[in-house]
Amino acid sequence: MLKVFAPALLATLVAGHGHVTNIVINGVSYEGWDIDSFPYETDPPTVVAWGTPNTANGFITPDDYDTSDIICHLNATNAKGHAVVAAGDKINLQWTAWPDTHHGPVIDYLASCGDSCETVDKTTLKFFKIDGVGLVDDTAVPGTWGDDQLIANNNSWLVEIPPTLAPGNYVLRHEIIALHSAGTEDGAQNYPQCFNLQVTGSGSDQPSGVLGTELYSPTDAGIIVNIYTSLSTYVVPGPTAYSGAVSITQASSSITASGTPVTGSGGAATTSAGSSTTSSAGKTSSTTTAVASTPTSVSTTLTTKVSTSSTQTITSTTSTTSAASGSGGSTQSVYGQCGGTGWSGATACNAEATCSSMNPYYYQCVPTAV
Ligand SMILES: *[C@@H]1O[C@H](CO)[C@@H](O)[C@H](O)[C@H]1NC(C)=O
Ligand SMILES: *[C@@H]1O[C@H](CO)[C@@H](O)[C@H](O)[C@H]1NC(C)=O
Repeated sequence: MLKVFAPALLATLVAGHGHVTNIVINGVSYEGWDIDSFPYETDPPTVVAWGTPNTANGFITPDDYDTSDIICHLNATNAKGHAVVAAGDKINLQWTAWPDTHHGPVIDYLASCGDSCETVDKTTLKFFKIDGVGLVDDTAVPGTWGDDQLIANNNSWLVEIPPTLAPGNYVLRHEIIALHSAGTEDGAQNYPQCFNLQVTGSGSDQPSGVLGTELYSPTDAGIIVNIYTSLSTYVVPGPTAYSGAVSITQASSSITASGTPVTGSGGAATTSAGSSTTSSAGKTSSTTTAVASTPTSVSTTLTTKVSTSSTQTITSTTSTTSAASGSGGSTQSVYGQCGGTGWSGATACNAEATCSSMNPYYYQCVPTAV
């Protein structure tokens, strides 16, 4: 019999598979690792995503589950910045168009980095699972899978940072495992990608995890599987999920601002109100979203001129805790708020930081360059 590739399938093969273009936290979008340009640059931009020379838009195979490539993709290098997120917040990971032939699970893990995810040795990271959606419905073989939900969700995936998690620095390892060729050994395709997060909050859980090289075995039931037959069950590969993991309904996240990665570690983890700085197209002005447990919540709308002289409207919710400031005389710690309309807390920063205006509503203690 003559074998003919349908044009759509051929296009899929030619175009490669997929990767995350950006992540969105409370409307603020952080650029991902752009495989089409960053690998060719000697000094690629600082982003919250780990780097990889994966210009082929490819995947990791089961034969490499015991190599460091399975941790954060091919020859991955640490992200140079991180995003701040509150425990209990949701992160939307936006993908390039995902091929609908590539059925399989979508899985998310976190691993604590200690002092800094920007410098941590990836081979020491211990991952715990916070999300895993495999076979959703097998009524019509090969079934509806986690990644089919991802496609239906505007090619994006929403994951919640467990509210009970202790604050600190974490690598988010997000992954699709495509199973369209997984009927034989070494046929599965793993698409892992990592992002640096600073999680704020008041949780205390420090879940144990496993090394990236110990997440999967090439012979796991969820790795060698023929999805073209009816399956009564499908076990999502990897360790069982952390007990504090939260299962959520998928939803997409519209973007209201672009975020600038935070660099450096230090005092950020100890401020009572974590915050992330965002800028409008990185140009003439910026707005900041502060995350905290929220006794007061102030919603502001800023109209910002960008360099193209078009006008963009940014809606920003600034949440502050009255406790975050301390009483008048004290100083604010690095990344804490130090001023802005309606701010009655400390306006001086500690010795390591300088108070800087992000916008009329939010001044932040920015680390003083050393
Ligand atoms: C990945 O690293 C290995 C070992 O250093 C090297 O041989 C290989 O060329 C690298 N691959 C890419 C695509 O850079
Ligand atoms: C859908 O995805 C596109 C491309 O990533 C993005 O520009 C758009 O804002 C998304 N739409 C929604 C409603 O999230």
